[in-house]
Amino acid sequence: MSKSVLLLPGDGIGPEIVAEAEKVLHKVNEKFGLGLKFDSALVGGAAIDDSGVPLPEETLSKARDADAILLGAVGGPKWDALEMALRPEKGLLGLRSNLALFANLRPAILYPQLASASSLKPEVVSGLDIMIVRELTGGIYFGQPRGVRELENGERQGYNTYVYTESEIRRIGRVAFEAAQQRNKKLCSVDKANVLEVTVLWREIMEDLAKEYPDVELSHMYVDNAAMQLVRAPKQFDVIVTGNMFGDILSDEAAMLTGSIGMLPSASLNADKQGMYEPCHGSAPDIAGQGIANPLATILSAAMMLRYSLQAEEAAQAIEAAVSKVLDQGLRTADIMSEGHTRVSTLEMGEAVLAAL
Ligand code: IPM
Ligand code: MG
Repeated sequence: MSKSVLLLPGDGIGPEIVAEAEKVLHKVNEKFGLGLKFDSALVGGAAIDDSGVPLPEETLSKARDADAILLGAVGGPKWDALEMALRPEKGLLGLRSNLALFANLRPAILYPQLASASSLKPEVVSGLDIMIVRELTGGIYFGQPRGVRELENGERQGYNTYVYTESEIRRIGRVAFEAAQQRNKKLCSVDKANVLEVTVLWREIMEDLAKEYPDVELSHMYVDNAAMQLVRAPKQFDVIVTGNMFGDILSDEAAMLTGSIGMLPSASLNADKQGMYEPCHGSAPDIAGQGIANPLATILSAAMMLRYSLQAEEAAQAIEAAVSKVLDQGLRTADIMSEGHTRVSTLEMGEAVLAAL
């Protein structure tokens, strides 16, 4: 049976990087006889410009029907002044919540070829391989009530609510324990249990789950310490599990350990393993349209998509090997450029991956 892939280029550099990933997907589709069918739709600012809303009904319905979704990025200064409910980011958040994509996997792997691109010393980051499991449809991002209200004294007050139910904690916990079982069997749960009750419960549920995974060594860390440890001694981590907002922050930090956020893919999965795949970086409006963005995070996201949602492990590995090969060839986009290498454009990087395939 043929499987369907929905492409959502989005805004900023999104269309440029998704175009390269699309070529790579067409290539492996042919080479490995995957029988993938492709469609595309608008999301974020591009959708706002077209129809006034960041997540049109048509996009949502195509997304529901797809086996997997590849998203570029959303957002940009053009739409920053819009009210919260109409901002491009709501398109992304709406897809996550409507498809119940609660499990966000963000691997931070250092390619040996890029050790010198990291701002940390090579010995601190060489061999780095961390998996951040971020809860993606709950926590303070979605908690109610939220808003800006006027107090009796006339002053305005902004407020959000940080909530997690036991079942939400348990299901993301299971994903993380299972990921750890497939890796080095170490799981660090990150919370703020010295201050926030919601994360006291989080810690309790993780402890409880640990009994079902005796082969995994569970530890806990406060988020402030985790932020510090990630730059002090990042190789102490194998799998990290944390809530939506802490995961947002720590995954950007972990990304930079690897030299460039332009290299990091991600997967957002629901209970049926339907998934949305996107680079960890944003829409980078400052460099959009210049042809200098790094398409590798998106190309690697396509590889994750083949692995987790399309059962095409061989094709996934072929893409990952091709990326490694172009790095070996010394090709670098601006964000990972260092002396002695060849600077290439977004398009040239995409073509090089195709050639390596
Ligand atoms: C991410 C992004 C999003 C988030 C934004 C664009 C809403 O930063 O995927 O990490 O905060 O989750
Ligand atoms: Mg983020």
